[in-house]
Amino acid sequence: MTTALYPGSFDPFHRGHLAITEQAARSFDEVVVAVLGNPQKPSGLFPVPARVDFVTASVSHVTNVRCVTFGGLTVDLARREGAAVIIRAAHKDQRPERSMAHANWTLSGITTFFAAPEMATATISSTMIRTLVARGETAAAAALVPPPVAAALRARAPRGNIT
Ligand code: PNS
Repeated sequence: MTTALYPGSFDPFHRGHLAITEQAARSFDEVVVAVLGNPQKPSGLFPVPARVDFVTASVSHVTNVRCVTFGGLTVDLARREGAAVIIRAAHKDQRPERSMAHANWTLSGITTFFAAPEMATATISSTMIRTLVARGETAAAAALVPPPVAAALRARAPRGNIT
């Protein structure tokens, strides 16, 4: 049985993340989505426990996916979860991503696989969604995320900004 670990900040989990998760779930026996509290990216939208709830609700239709959270090194979690591979999206900025994959390999011997997102979701990013929300463009942001996250975005929007 091959377990894949898909780590990220997921603030918030968006349709691109969901597509990568579904892709990984078709390729590996089990996928563990890991929500990391990233000190370099303080929470802009949702606290970590809420992000875990959103991932869990968004992937409920995929039986071989579960969501966890942790602080510390990704490879330590990968070892604890028995993950043989780490999944990252291929559209992320490639240079830092390669460095991180290299560090993870050096630390643990665990390979990072870069999954190419489908065209429809390739340009979505959590940063873009946070920017839209900060500008009051809740409807535009909600269109980029799975229904549980969209509901939460609408619930936190100021009155008069809900569409
Ligand atoms: O969604 P993000 O913010 O691009 O995810 C980045 C994340 C959380 C996967 C990355 O920062 C991470 O793995 N942090 C944990 C610390 C770690 O293991 N760093 C890599 C080896 S130095």
